[in-house]
Amino acid sequence: MSADELNELWEAVKKTPENIPLRKYLIKLLLKQERFEEAEREIKEILKLAPESEALQLALASAFYGQQKYPVALVLLEEITSKSDCSAEAWLLMAKVYLQLGAGDSAKDAYEKAIIIKPALEDSFLSAEINLKNKAPEGEKIKLSSFGIEGDEADEKAIDIEKPKIDFNAVGGMEALKAEIRKKIIFPLEHPEIYKSYGKKIGGGILMYGPPGCGKTHLARATAGEINANFIPVGLSDILDVYLGQSERNLHDIFEKARSLKPCVLFFDEVDALGASRTDMRQSAARHVINQFLEELDGVRHSNDGVLVLAATNAPWHLDSAFRRPGRFDRIIFVPPPDVAARAAIFEIKMKDKPTESIDYSRLVKKTDDFSGADLEAIIDIAIESKLEASMEAGKALPLNTQDLEAALKRHKATTKEWLGTAKNYALFSNESGLYDDILKYLKLK
Ligand SMILES: Nc1ncnc2c1ncn2[C@@H]1O[C@H](COP(=O)(O)OP(=O)(O)O)[C@@H](O)[C@H]1O
Ligand SMILES: [Mg+2]
Repeated sequence: MSADELNELWEAVKKTPENIPLRKYLIKLLLKQERFEEAEREIKEILKLAPESEALQLALASAFYGQQKYPVALVLLEEITSKSDCSAEAWLLMAKVYLQLGAGDSAKDAYEKAIIIKPALEDSFLSAEINLKNKAPEGEKIKLSSFGIEGDEADEKAIDIEKPKIDFNAVGGMEALKAEIRKKIIFPLEHPEIYKSYGKKIGGGILMYGPPGCGKTHLARATAGEINANFIPVGLSDILDVYLGQSERNLHDIFEKARSLKPCVLFFDEVDALGASRTDMRQSAARHVINQFLEELDGVRHSNDGVLVLAATNAPWHLDSAFRRPGRFDRIIFVPPPDVAARAAIFEIKMKDKPTESIDYSRLVKKTDDFSGADLEAIIDIAIESKLEASMEAGKALPLNTQDLEAALKRHKATTKEWLGTAKNYALFSNESGLYDDILKYLKLK
């Protein structure tokens, strides 16, 4: 909605001040457009009519937060959260306020309360900021700047480099994705001359999304092993930094390291959080980090030859749309929970080196719909745990059998359901240009 339209709405509100739903709608829009001062005034007016409304109190706290009036926001939030049925959103805002006030511990507490009530509020950007706060005490920061030391040297992060031993054989299922990685990433690396002769630019990355535990990280690592490349896993905490400009420098350093270690697979986990456009106060800081990331990815100033970029996210709906442009993550691939064949393959891979009798995997895979690879691993662990006890009594390693695994199955639930529930809503209600068609297909809604 444009500013003009909003002003018209405002006129309408003035003519019919008794129309409460309309006034609430106006407040929502004012907050959304970051017109916090005006929102504050409006909310205070309408609060006179309904002083007990939590939604309104919370809206007021957001308006305070938006104007950086953190202490008043906190007082109000303390009031709201003192009620036993307060919403998860109130705790989340409280966490943000605490964070701004430098109270990392309290921020963490409040954040955890929010997530317990409503797991969908999980915000990897915010949680990374909270962790950073708890790691970097305020005193240190002041000390550094007062001595004029550049954050650069003082805070250089160690970059984790691996040389994975696993290859695609260690990954069950995911055949289409393996083929895509071969075609889009491995083949250009091994035959750059073919691409060059067609005048095709090599570059861009593959972004995987899907429920946790379904092999995104595992496949990225195996991709490096497949071509004997180095592997650099990059998490948010490797990038984000409390110092202004340091996050961008960290990103640049990571890409430079990868360029010096080619062939190299750079794997960005939780990449959506880099562009967390919803952490309102940090919007401009987040924008700088995204721009830096895109610049590195585009490889305009520095060649990315021999650097393969893979990324993963559990929350593709929070991904900044700039990531999707051609030459960046132009392949965005859904990694669903493993299907029947993939589950059988995963079972066999994981049981390969364990003492077993002949196991009826077809029975097990039928009972494990929606189980992730990590869930299957957990089941095997549970079965081993109980077999160990029996083995100790017997004085030798007893082989695992089908019944052991079936018993373990009953003690572990599929962990992908919650994600699929959230994903279903996005797929049904904000499926722009069919972005989430694969989710709908998986859920048999299309
Ligand atoms: N397709 C698969 N093949 C083999 N192992 C898998 C597969 N999917 C998941 N796993 C196992 O589950 C664990 C968690 O998977 P991970 O790759 O970390 O999931 P994600 O990154 O998607 O959250 C891995 O360490 C791996 O052992
Ligand atoms: Mg992962």
